[in-house]
Amino acid sequence: MTNDLKQKLEGLKTTLFSLSSPEFLSNPYPIYDKLRSNHPVYKANSFKYPGWYVTGYEETAAILKDTKFKNRIPLPQTSKKYEHLKTIQSDMMLFKNQHDHKRLRMLVSKVFTPNVVEGYRPYIEETVNELLNQVQDKKRMDIVADFAFPLASLIIAKILGVPAEERHQFREWTVSLIQTIDFTRSRETLANGNDTTKMLLIYFKELINKRKQTPQNDLISTLILEEQQGDKLTDEELLATCILLVIAGHETTVNLISNAVLSLLNYPEQLMMLKENTLLIERAVEEFLRYESPTQLTARIASEDTEMNGITIKKGEQVYILLGAANRDPKKFINPNVLDITRNPNPHLAFGYGIHFCLGSSLARLEAQIAIQTLLRRMGNLQMATPDLQWRKLIGFRALKELPITFD
Ligand code: HEM
Repeated sequence: MTNDLKQKLEGLKTTLFSLSSPEFLSNPYPIYDKLRSNHPVYKANSFKYPGWYVTGYEETAAILKDTKFKNRIPLPQTSKKYEHLKTIQSDMMLFKNQHDHKRLRMLVSKVFTPNVVEGYRPYIEETVNELLNQVQDKKRMDIVADFAFPLASLIIAKILGVPAEERHQFREWTVSLIQTIDFTRSRETLANGNDTTKMLLIYFKELINKRKQTPQNDLISTLILEEQQGDKLTDEELLATCILLVIAGHETTVNLISNAVLSLLNYPEQLMMLKENTLLIERAVEEFLRYESPTQLTARIASEDTEMNGITIKKGEQVYILLGAANRDPKKFINPNVLDITRNPNPHLAFGYGIHFCLGSSLARLEAQIAIQTLLRRMGNLQMATPDLQWRKLIGFRALKELPITFD
């Protein structure tokens, strides 16, 4: 065996070990670099989830743009277990392709255009200020539990039309469902997710019935109208859309805001720069999305043999796309491991790319811009309250358990 091959095998072993290690969970970027330096589209048949692991920027963009790579539900089609979970996932636009995907996306995208989202600005500002009022005198808070989560939760509840007092249960439901699509999932998390789906179905069926009787000015009522005006949307798809929006609208936005605050605390000179020049906020949020991407991984299946960068991805093979790695590819970004809130252009792929590009991107951007700007304006001398930060045990999402801070 040549030295070169030996080294590569050694690298593979380390990578294998590290994908589920505490080191990976707290800092996945060195492992991404290792994978990328082996090959930007790396075949790992010995991983727990065998398939191609994509860490290169150009390769990620090419695969996400290519409709030969299909989205699919994260549970094996053959599995008879977890029936509720499987059925609801198959009705979500995220896991649909071609015509069905286009139809659902058209319906829902109407209510997420930048213009419509801009209309939520006053409510977002008011909510951010109320949340900060609640902690102002305590001089400390947990960014995750006291700020980012209630903000994301109140906003998505308002848009969907979920009564504010009922939104608390969504945190638990979201955490449970996120685990079902992550590599770290176990039989237990899948069974929990299946039970959670049952509860969500009961909850939303009841809410949809209420809105059918008395429509309100909210997303559920708008979608019901679409459903009644033609066969554009089935009952099951309406339910699945509500559940998808609750999950997608919660988890990632909480992580974007929390990761943004952490990044600024780690780069105090960038924090000062942003405080002094508030016009930088839009670029800063793009950089937070790139630097600590809330969604780290998405997946596709090849529907045909495809050549790419000297390799052939065969029909039926799984492709795991590491967005967090693509966003730190040195071939695309100068000094990728450094936070630079003035970075421009910043063509990161944190919201995906192509036909499944995140539908809630305008909303997530606006929430993060208002949240960070207001926090910096109102709270002085932001400091981390503990050096021991813990990340949640997830591979596909970059999610802090908590972020306790102090301020003046
Ligand atoms: C920082 C916050 C967010 C991030 C990083 C994010 C990330 C993503 C990514 C990467 C995808 C594409 C997945 C793929 O191609 O497999 C996606 C799709 C999607 N996102 Fe987001 N998202 C965020 C916030 C939101 C919000 C606030 C909503 C809604 C309220 C939302 C709704 C959706 C929906 C419906 C899709 C599926 C679109 C489709 O299949 O056509 N997201 N998101």
